[in-house]
Amino acid sequence: MAIQWFPGHMNKARKDITERLKEIDVVIELLDARLPASSANPMLARMAKGKPRLMILNKQDLADPAITQQWLAWYNAKPHTQALGMDAGERAPAQKLVAACRELAPNRGGLEKPLRVLICGIPNVGKSTLINSMSSRKIAKTGNMPGVTKNEQRIILADDFELFDTPGMLWPKIEVEEGGYNLAASGAVGRNAMDEEEVTLELLKYLLVHYAPELSARYKLDDVEGRQDWQVLEMIGRKRGAVLSGGRINMQKAAEIVLTDFRDGQVGRITLERPDEWLAWEKRAKAI
Ligand code: G4P
Repeated sequence: MAIQWFPGHMNKARKDITERLKEIDVVIELLDARLPASSANPMLARMAKGKPRLMILNKQDLADPAITQQWLAWYNAKPHTQALGMDAGERAPAQKLVAACRELAPNRGGLEKPLRVLICGIPNVGKSTLINSMSSRKIAKTGNMPGVTKNEQRIILADDFELFDTPGMLWPKIEVEEGGYNLAASGAVGRNAMDEEEVTLELLKYLLVHYAPELSARYKLDDVEGRQDWQVLEMIGRKRGAVLSGGRINMQKAAEIVLTDFRDGQVGRITLERPDEWLAWEKRAKAI
C-alpha cells in the first residue's frame, strides 16, 4: 500500500507559502539526512523554481556519513542550490545558515534590502529544534505582525535578515513508493496514514541489504543472512519479549520497537537511500 498523507492544514500551509514566496529571496529546505531525496518536497521545488535554495541535511548525526557526502555533492551540483549538513548538536547553526543564505543572494542585505528567507520542511525533520537553537536571538512571534499569517513565525536573525518559518508539510501525491515508506519510517507521516508493520518490513528489507551487521549487533541476532524481512521481525520480537499468549510473536509491538530504535539512531548511522537507488526508484515510478 502506497503511503499518502496530505491533511487539510497542509493544504492551507501550501497556499500560505505560495503567497509568501513572492517576496522571498532564498528558500531553505530542511531535509532529513537519512532520506535526502524522499524528504525533499517536489511541490516546493516547483513553487520556488528559480529562487536560490539552501538544502540543509539535518539529523546528519543519525545518517551514514559517507552517503551524506554523496547527497551533498548531488545537491551542490544543482543550479542556484547550496547544500550543507547539520545536526541539533551544532553549536552555531544560525551563523552557518545566515552566511550560506548571504552567499546565495549577494545582492540583498543591509537595512534597505533585508534578506528574506523562507524555511520549509517535512513534519518532524527538526525545524523547531533548529529554530529553538537560534532562540537566543530575537524571535518575533506571529499575531502582532501584519501580513504574517497564524501559520507562520518571523524570526529576526540579524537587523537585515528575516527568516519566515512554516508548518511541517508533505505533498498531495508521493510518487516514489520507497520514498513514502522512508518518510513513514522517519516519523514524518501521521500514524493513522500508515501500517507500522508494513513500514517496518520495508525498513528491514533495506537494512538487510545495506546494514545487516548493524541490525545483528543491535538485536543480538547471529543468523540474519538470507533471512526474509518478516523472519527478522519475528526474531526481534522474540528477543524483545513481544510474544502473545500461545507463543505467537506480536508483530505490531515488534514493529514499534524497530521503528522507535531507528528513529532514535539506536540501530546505527543509517541512510535509507543513495543517489543511484533514488534515480532507479524515480524512473520506475514514472514508468508506472
Ligand atoms: P519539527 O519541528 O520539524 O516537526 O521537528 P522537531 O524540531 O520537533 O524535531 C523532531 C525530533 O527530531 C525531536 O525529537 C528532535 O529532538 C529531533 N531532532 C531534531 N534535529 C535533530 C538532529 O539534528 N539530530 C537528532 N539526532 N535529532 C534531531 P523527539 O524525540 O521528538 O523529541 P525530543 O527528543 O527532543 O524530546
